[in-house]
Amino acid sequence: MGPSAPQDIFSQHFNVNRGMRERLNGHPGKVIWLTGLSGAGKSTLANAMEMELHRFGRKTYLLDGDNIRSGLNRDLGFSDADRVENIRRVAEIARLMLDAGMIVISAFISPFRAEREMAKMLIGPNDFLEIYVNTPLRVCEERDPKGLYRKARQGRITNMTGLGSPYEPPTAPFATFNGSGEIAVEQAARDLARAASLI
Ligand code: ADX
Repeated sequence: MGPSAPQDIFSQHFNVNRGMRERLNGHPGKVIWLTGLSGAGKSTLANAMEMELHRFGRKTYLLDGDNIRSGLNRDLGFSDADRVENIRRVAEIARLMLDAGMIVISAFISPFRAEREMAKMLIGPNDFLEIYVNTPLRVCEERDPKGLYRKARQGRITNMTGLGSPYEPPTAPFATFNGSGEIAVEQAARDLARAASLI
Protein backbone atom coordinates (compact mmCIF):
# COMPACT_ATOMS: atom_id res chain seq x y z
CA MET A 1 0.00 0.00 0.00
CA GLY A 2 1.52 3.34 -1.07
CA PRO A 3 0.95 6.76 0.46
CA SER A 4 -2.59 8.16 0.22
CA ALA A 5 -3.27 10.63 -2.57
CA PRO A 6 -3.06 14.29 -1.41
CA GLN A 7 -6.54 15.00 -2.82
CA ASP A 8 -7.93 12.42 -0.39
CA ILE A 9 -6.45 14.16 2.67
CA PHE A 10 -8.47 16.92 4.34
CA SER A 11 -6.99 19.35 6.83
CA GLN A 12 -9.09 19.45 10.00
CA HIS A 13 -9.67 22.52 12.09
CA PHE A 14 -9.78 22.16 15.87
CA ASN A 15 -10.75 24.71 18.45
CA VAL A 16 -7.84 24.66 20.88
CA ASN A 17 -4.97 26.39 19.10
CA ARG A 18 -1.32 27.11 19.69
CA GLY A 19 -1.91 30.55 21.22
CA MET A 20 -4.31 29.04 23.77
CA ARG A 21 -1.82 26.32 24.67
CA GLU A 22 0.94 28.90 25.02
CA ARG A 23 -1.22 31.01 27.32
CA LEU A 24 -1.83 27.98 29.48
CA ASN A 25 1.93 27.25 29.52
CA GLY A 26 2.70 30.87 30.36
CA HIS A 27 5.29 31.29 27.61
CA PRO A 28 5.59 31.09 23.82
CA GLY A 29 6.90 28.03 22.03
CA LYS A 30 10.14 28.03 20.05
CA VAL A 31 12.46 25.68 18.20
CA ILE A 32 16.15 25.89 19.05
CA TRP A 33 17.99 24.07 16.28
CA LEU A 34 21.55 23.03 17.11
CA THR A 35 23.81 21.99 14.25
CA GLY A 36 27.43 20.85 14.19
CA LEU A 37 29.75 17.90 13.72
CA SER A 38 29.48 14.65 15.67
CA GLY A 39 31.33 15.21 18.94
CA ALA A 40 31.01 19.01 18.68
CA GLY A 41 29.04 19.23 21.93
CA LYS A 42 25.47 19.60 20.65
CA SER A 43 23.95 17.14 23.13
CA THR A 44 25.89 18.68 26.04
CA LEU A 45 24.74 22.20 25.16
CA ALA A 46 21.19 20.99 24.48
CA ASN A 47 21.09 19.30 27.87
CA ALA A 48 22.37 22.43 29.65
CA MET A 49 19.84 24.60 27.82
CA GLU A 50 16.97 22.31 28.68
CA MET A 51 18.01 22.21 32.34
CA GLU A 52 18.16 25.99 32.48
CA LEU A 53 14.77 26.43 30.79
CA HIS A 54 13.21 23.76 32.98
CA ARG A 55 14.56 25.50 36.05
CA PHE A 56 12.67 28.61 34.90
CA GLY A 57 9.45 26.63 34.58
CA ARG A 58 9.49 26.42 30.79
CA LYS A 59 7.87 23.44 29.06
CA THR A 60 10.58 21.83 27.00
CA TYR A 61 11.46 18.79 24.98
CA LEU A 62 14.82 17.68 23.61
CA LEU A 63 15.12 15.84 20.31
CA ASP A 64 18.54 14.21 19.92
CA GLY A 65 20.08 12.42 16.92
CA ASP A 66 21.18 9.21 18.57
CA ASN A 67 17.89 8.83 20.49
CA ILE A 68 15.56 9.50 17.55
CA ARG A 69 17.67 7.24 15.37
CA SER A 70 17.19 4.35 17.78
CA GLY A 71 13.40 4.73 17.67
CA LEU A 72 11.31 6.59 15.11
CA ASN A 73 14.16 6.88 12.60
CA ARG A 74 15.84 3.54 13.12
CA ASP A 75 15.08 2.65 9.50
CA LEU A 76 17.43 5.42 8.33
CA GLY A 77 21.19 5.31 7.74
CA PHE A 78 23.73 7.98 6.82
CA SER A 79 23.42 8.30 3.05
CA ASP A 80 22.60 11.83 1.89
CA ALA A 81 19.00 10.77 1.17
CA ASP A 82 18.55 9.21 4.62
CA ARG A 83 19.98 12.28 6.36
CA VAL A 84 17.53 14.44 4.42
CA GLU A 85 14.64 12.21 5.50
CA ASN A 86 15.96 12.18 9.08
CA ILE A 87 15.85 15.97 9.19
CA ARG A 88 12.47 16.16 7.44
CA ARG A 89 10.89 13.93 10.08
CA VAL A 90 12.60 15.77 12.93
CA ALA A 91 11.42 19.11 11.54
CA GLU A 92 7.86 17.74 11.36
CA ILE A 93 8.03 16.57 14.98
CA ALA A 94 9.46 19.92 16.06
CA ARG A 95 6.61 21.65 14.22
CA LEU A 96 4.02 19.57 16.03
CA MET A 97 5.65 20.20 19.40
CA LEU A 98 5.81 23.91 18.64
CA ASP A 99 2.09 23.79 17.89
CA ALA A 100 1.71 22.06 21.25
CA GLY A 101 3.28 25.20 22.75
CA MET A 102 6.63 23.71 23.74
CA ILE A 103 10.20 24.95 23.58
CA VAL A 104 11.89 22.30 21.46
CA ILE A 105 15.65 21.84 21.42
CA SER A 106 16.91 19.73 18.54
CA ALA A 107 20.44 18.35 18.44
CA PHE A 108 21.23 16.78 15.06
CA ILE A 109 24.29 17.13 12.87
CA SER A 110 21.89 18.34 10.15
CA PRO A 111 24.87 18.77 7.82
CA PHE A 112 23.14 20.23 4.77
CA ARG A 113 22.20 23.90 4.46
CA ALA A 114 19.23 23.11 2.22
CA GLU A 115 17.68 20.77 4.80
CA ARG A 116 18.12 23.24 7.63
CA GLU A 117 16.48 25.81 5.38
CA MET A 118 13.64 23.35 4.72
CA ALA A 119 13.25 22.84 8.48
CA LYS A 120 13.21 26.61 9.01
CA MET A 121 10.50 27.13 6.39
CA LEU A 122 8.41 24.24 7.72
CA ILE A 123 8.65 25.46 11.30
CA GLY A 124 8.37 29.15 10.40
CA PRO A 125 11.37 31.51 10.28
CA ASN A 126 10.27 33.47 13.38
CA ASP A 127 10.13 30.37 15.56
CA PHE A 128 13.33 28.75 14.34
CA LEU A 129 16.60 29.70 16.00
CA GLU A 130 19.66 28.12 14.45
CA ILE A 131 22.65 27.69 16.75
CA TYR A 132 25.94 26.64 15.25
CA VAL A 133 27.97 24.45 17.61
CA ASN A 134 31.31 25.27 16.06
CA THR A 135 34.01 22.81 17.04
CA PRO A 136 36.86 22.10 14.62
CA LEU A 137 36.96 18.62 13.13
CA ARG A 138 40.42 18.16 14.69
CA VAL A 139 38.97 18.64 18.19
CA CYS A 140 35.93 16.40 17.54
CA GLU A 141 38.26 13.74 16.21
CA GLU A 142 40.54 13.99 19.26
CA ARG A 143 37.54 13.59 21.57
CA ASP A 144 35.96 10.84 19.47
CA PRO A 145 33.58 9.89 22.31
CA LYS A 146 31.96 7.08 20.30
CA GLY A 147 35.07 5.89 18.44
CA LEU A 148 33.39 6.70 15.12
CA TYR A 149 36.16 8.90 13.69
CA ARG A 150 38.69 6.14 14.36
CA LYS A 151 36.42 3.64 12.60
CA ALA A 152 36.05 6.05 9.69
CA ARG A 153 39.84 6.49 9.43
CA GLN A 154 40.13 2.69 9.36
CA GLY A 155 37.63 2.57 6.50
CA ARG A 156 35.00 0.78 8.58
CA ILE A 157 32.58 3.72 8.17
CA THR A 158 32.45 5.30 4.73
CA ASN A 159 30.30 8.38 5.17
CA MET A 160 31.33 9.93 8.47
CA THR A 161 30.40 13.61 8.57
CA GLY A 162 33.54 15.71 8.15
CA LEU A 163 35.49 12.85 6.55
CA GLY A 164 33.52 10.94 3.93
CA SER A 165 30.43 13.15 4.03
CA PRO A 166 30.31 16.98 3.93
CA TYR A 167 29.29 19.41 6.67
CA GLU A 168 28.02 22.80 5.50
CA PRO A 169 28.31 25.41 8.30
CA PRO A 170 25.48 27.92 8.72
CA THR A 171 26.03 31.26 7.02
CA ALA A 172 23.86 33.39 9.33
CA PRO A 173 23.07 31.49 12.55
CA PHE A 174 21.18 33.13 15.42
CA ALA A 175 24.22 32.35 17.55
CA THR A 176 27.48 30.45 17.39
CA PHE A 177 28.75 28.40 20.29
CA ASN A 178 32.46 27.70 20.38
CA GLY A 179 32.55 24.06 21.42
CA SER A 180 36.32 23.66 21.71
CA GLY A 181 38.37 24.10 24.87
CA GLU A 182 37.13 24.44 28.40
CA ILE A 183 33.92 26.39 28.16
CA ALA A 184 31.37 27.01 30.87
CA VAL A 185 28.46 25.29 29.16
CA GLU A 186 25.95 26.31 31.86
CA GLN A 187 26.81 29.97 31.38
CA ALA A 188 26.57 29.62 27.60
CA ALA A 189 23.19 27.89 27.93
CA ARG A 190 21.89 30.73 30.13
CA ASP A 191 23.24 33.40 27.75
CA LEU A 192 21.63 31.71 24.76
CA ALA A 193 18.29 31.27 26.54
CA ARG A 194 18.35 34.98 27.47
CA ALA A 195 19.40 36.06 23.98
CA ALA A 196 16.44 34.11 22.61
CA SER A 197 14.13 35.79 25.21
CA LEU A 198 13.14 32.40 26.58
CA ILE A 199 13.91 33.25 30.22
S1 ADX B 1 22.33 13.66 10.67
O1 ADX B 1 23.51 13.86 9.80
O2 ADX B 1 21.33 12.80 10.03
O3 ADX B 1 21.76 14.94 11.14
P1 ADX B 1 22.20 12.68 13.37
O4 ADX B 1 22.46 13.88 14.21
O5 ADX B 1 20.80 12.21 13.23
O6 ADX B 1 22.90 12.88 11.94
O7 ADX B 1 23.03 11.44 13.96
C1 ADX B 1 24.39 11.61 14.23
C2 ADX B 1 24.90 10.55 15.20
O8 ADX B 1 24.89 9.27 14.60
C3 ADX B 1 26.34 10.85 15.55
O9 ADX B 1 26.45 11.61 16.74
C4 ADX B 1 26.94 9.48 15.73
O10 ADX B 1 26.79 9.04 17.07
C5 ADX B 1 26.10 8.58 14.87
N1 ADX B 1 26.71 8.20 13.57
C6 ADX B 1 26.82 6.94 13.12
N2 ADX B 1 27.33 6.91 11.87
C7 ADX B 1 27.57 8.19 11.51
C8 ADX B 1 28.11 8.80 10.33
N3 ADX B 1 28.50 8.09 9.25
N4 ADX B 1 28.22 10.16 10.30
C9 ADX B 1 27.82 10.88 11.36
N5 ADX B 1 27.31 10.36 12.50
C10 ADX B 1 27.18 9.02 12.59
